Amino acid sequence: MPYISQSFIDDLPNQIDIVDLVSKRLSLKKTGSDYRAPCPFHGGKNRNFAINSHKQFYHCFKCGASGGAISFVQKFDHLDFVEAIEVIAGEFGLKIEYDSNTKPVDPRLERYRGLSQKVSAFYIQQLRNSPAKKKAVDYAHARGISGEIAKRFELGFATPSNNDLLLEFEKDEQGTSDLKSLGLLKTGQYGDYDFFRDRLMFPIHNTKGKVIAFGGRAFDNKAKAKYLNSSESPIFSKSRELYGLYQARQHSRTMDYVLVVEGYMDVVALHQASFTKVVATLGTATTPEHLQILARTTNTIVFCFDGDNAGRAAAWKALQIALPVIKAGLVIKFLFLPDGEDPDTLVKKESTKAFEMRIEKAHTLSKFLFDHVKAEVDFDTIEGKTLFLEKVSVLINQVNYEIYQQQLIDGVAQVVGQSVDQVQTIFKQQVKQVQTTSFDAPLVTDHDHEPPMPDFSDFSDDYQPSNLAPQENSSVKVLMSKMINLLLNHPSIAYENDTVEVRVRMLKKNDKKFEALLDLVHSAEMVEGISQEELLKPFKSKTGVYNRLQQLCILEPYLSENEAKNEFLDALLKVEGQQKKTQSLLIKDEKEYAKNLQARRGKKD
Ligand code: UTP
Ligand code: MN
Repeated sequence: MPYISQSFIDDLPNQIDIVDLVSKRLSLKKTGSDYRAPCPFHGGKNRNFAINSHKQFYHCFKCGASGGAISFVQKFDHLDFVEAIEVIAGEFGLKIEYDSNTKPVDPRLERYRGLSQKVSAFYIQQLRNSPAKKKAVDYAHARGISGEIAKRFELGFATPSNNDLLLEFEKDEQGTSDLKSLGLLKTGQYGDYDFFRDRLMFPIHNTKGKVIAFGGRAFDNKAKAKYLNSSESPIFSKSRELYGLYQARQHSRTMDYVLVVEGYMDVVALHQASFTKVVATLGTATTPEHLQILARTTNTIVFCFDGDNAGRAAAWKALQIALPVIKAGLVIKFLFLPDGEDPDTLVKKESTKAFEMRIEKAHTLSKFLFDHVKAEVDFDTIEGKTLFLEKVSVLINQVNYEIYQQQLIDGVAQVVGQSVDQVQTIFKQQVKQVQTTSFDAPLVTDHDHEPPMPDFSDFSDDYQPSNLAPQENSSVKVLMSKMINLLLNHPSIAYENDTVEVRVRMLKKNDKKFEALLDLVHSAEMVEGISQEELLKPFKSKTGVYNRLQQLCILEPYLSENEAKNEFLDALLKVEGQQKKTQSLLIKDEKEYAKNLQARRGKKD
């Protein structure tokens, strides 16, 4: 198998235009020297996503996603590195240069996918031709699966034999070894044997329709494991895959909502009843990765769970995962089924219309949140209401989407019958409490100020930009990033204003995270007209910090020298104000504590 040559990969950015590539996927607007669009990775309506054609680089000012053409296609099209290069080459009509000497990205991936596809074809063929096929055909029939739907999901049959699959691939040494890596063959005391035996087989497809794993349903409900799944492998990670997503996209006209159900059979039965916008998690709880994928697919995610306790517990887990991911335009709902029913049994009992109504009437996230927490406390007492407020405030503080967060706070006020101001105060106290107990907790955010900058404040060396919706940047962190950005592009700010260094030194004295800014100010003050390269030089040994500073260099603020200076001084003033506020709060707390202590001592005396 030939590999893509390194020189081709290195030269790719010179052969193509990232603006062309992105504009095929997003609608771009030219602003200044770059192009802007709403960020496809964290969502939102603002045009925070910038593509710089000069530097062939994209960057989201809000979530920090950044990179070049290959990384963009990888993320946007959900592809691995090699696939992304193939797509790009295809779009620009480039002939990929292969090189048998260079090391591949991971040669197994292509092999494993090819092999999985062959195994799937083998199981399908067994369902058609095996002498033992009657059992499987009857089972599918009994569960109401038509030939058309079986074909749509490429259902197959693993025969009761111990080694049908083994025999099929026996002569292929590499194949046999790969089947073991994929968990499809096992090695036991008496040699190798098939992992899936006597089961109806559900291939699991990735979003491009390639088979990456399998699920197998036992015919007998008393079997030790009702379902077996392929083990995790380099091409299959349960926490990232959703069963049925490929078929949902293939067979739905729009994806105006996506129903998330629990089982393979639920997905298949819903298609049978002509509900195609449906996916299942693969025997795991919903993960943030699942939600990210869904949020890119649809505006409305409807979680569908059994009405029993286990279903409610699973729904509650999903809610907690969902809170930080909610963004503008994304609605999350919860559909609870009657006790003892799952979508499969229900759509067989009731009409399509009736099930449609259930989807329409699914509970909003806020209703589920309030109902659930209310049920956990003795709501009719003052103590119960207090507990309610404490619990919901912790949850609502997880929401990064401020407008929605405010709506939830309004909702809480209604539920407890207090004013929004009162509730807001309680929430702020809760945040403060968390803040003083944990250094990692988010600071109070500045609600009036839409942060134009990503959070670059973590200047630790192992920093990894997160793919998830960003934790809302604390205003101090955002302001600091802004100051660094301005200074990197206009070092004269420090050179021409004598007090800057003194003031930043003061900030650093109170808060160590200003160290990088102080170092930059110091260099800028020493040398007139210092270049970016020279400014960054001292950071070269600290890779993490260096990379982040480089990212900040790339964001050109398009301001005149004077405007930049004013922006910088304005940010500096705000940060100083924030520091003062935090300190006086701490001092006030300390004073109050001392006062209480004295009062209690006084009583004792
Ligand atoms: P359920 O037990 O709800 O099964 O498991 P189901 O989907 O209703 O299956 P049928 O209708 O009896 O055929 C839900 C999901 O949990 C995973 C599977 O992904 C299943 O679809 N599961 C369940 C397993 O992985 N292993 C098991 O033994 C059971
Ligand atoms: Mn079921």
